[in-house]
Amino acid sequence: MNRPASPNPFALAQPVMADVTLTRDDMKFIATLVYEQAGIVIREHKEAMTRGRLARRVKALGMNSVAEYCAFLKTPQAAGELPELINAVTTNHTAFFRERHHFDHLRKDVMPRLLQERSGRRGRIRIWSAACSSGEEPYSIAASCRDVVGPRSDLDFKILATDIDTDILTRAEAGIYPAELFERLPSDVKPMLKLEGGAGRGEARISEELRRMIAFKRLNLIEKWPMSGPFDVIFCRNVFIYFDTQTKASILDRFVALLAPGGFLYLGHSESLPQPHPNLRLIGRTIYERTA
Ligand SMILES: C[S@@+](CC[C@H](N)C(=O)[O-])C[C@H]1O[C@@H](n2cnc3c(N)ncnc32)[C@H](O)[C@@H]1O
Repeated sequence: MNRPASPNPFALAQPVMADVTLTRDDMKFIATLVYEQAGIVIREHKEAMTRGRLARRVKALGMNSVAEYCAFLKTPQAAGELPELINAVTTNHTAFFRERHHFDHLRKDVMPRLLQERSGRRGRIRIWSAACSSGEEPYSIAASCRDVVGPRSDLDFKILATDIDTDILTRAEAGIYPAELFERLPSDVKPMLKLEGGAGRGEARISEELRRMIAFKRLNLIEKWPMSGPFDVIFCRNVFIYFDTQTKASILDRFVALLAPGGFLYLGHSESLPQPHPNLRLIGRTIYERTA
């Protein structure tokens, strides 16, 4: 007969491991909820990744299992948890000067032309980084533009940087990054970021001058947008890959409505328009110009 082992008074307390089993039904429930809340399509083959991301919330909330977390999400008390769920499931991969050709186009073609056109006092220039993640994209935009504009202060120049993920926006706004990220940058762009000291060991901070050029805000691309535009340039890169055709088409129509005629839309390297748009002309690698 098996006797229960007597408790060992010298054993170290083991942390209780949460049960991270994700049933088919719970996976379906999470996928539907995330689609409704953020437009993000979670496909079946992303089950392991989803499980890992949910496990973080299970741990943070001190719950025992993913099943318990899913049951909680079905209760009215879970409304405040929805932003945390979205923060947990978003993919935030990004980099400074990622897809460099967009920043070269902005610096060499777009900005010189805009400066010429808007040379009058308080000439207005607006750029939107529409899924800015941890800030590398908008800071690369600011660095590229500052390089062309110089220290002049008579321009009404602003970069709007938005994302659905509130955690990542907090990091973006701080502008502090591991110093090694900058070491890997090409030598012609690194000085443009004007790094300053004062961050922690092994870290570097984007200069205040560049930070001041950007307004970071939470914005869900599938909800109503408060801005009236027009924008001269919109960066919407590496987020369309998470949306279905219908969501992409509706966001695209709204981008076009906010773009100034002659303005530019940059998409990510593996992205294209869900269908040809009558007001957009492809003029370079994932660079679209608003024609009318
Ligand atoms: C892979 S990152 C892309 C970052 C940057 N644009 C780049 O190309 O390096 C995708 C970003 O889209 C954001 N995102 C996902 N769904 C969103 C939505 N519905 N509204 C706004 N941002 C969203 C995520 O939080 C994430 O930070």
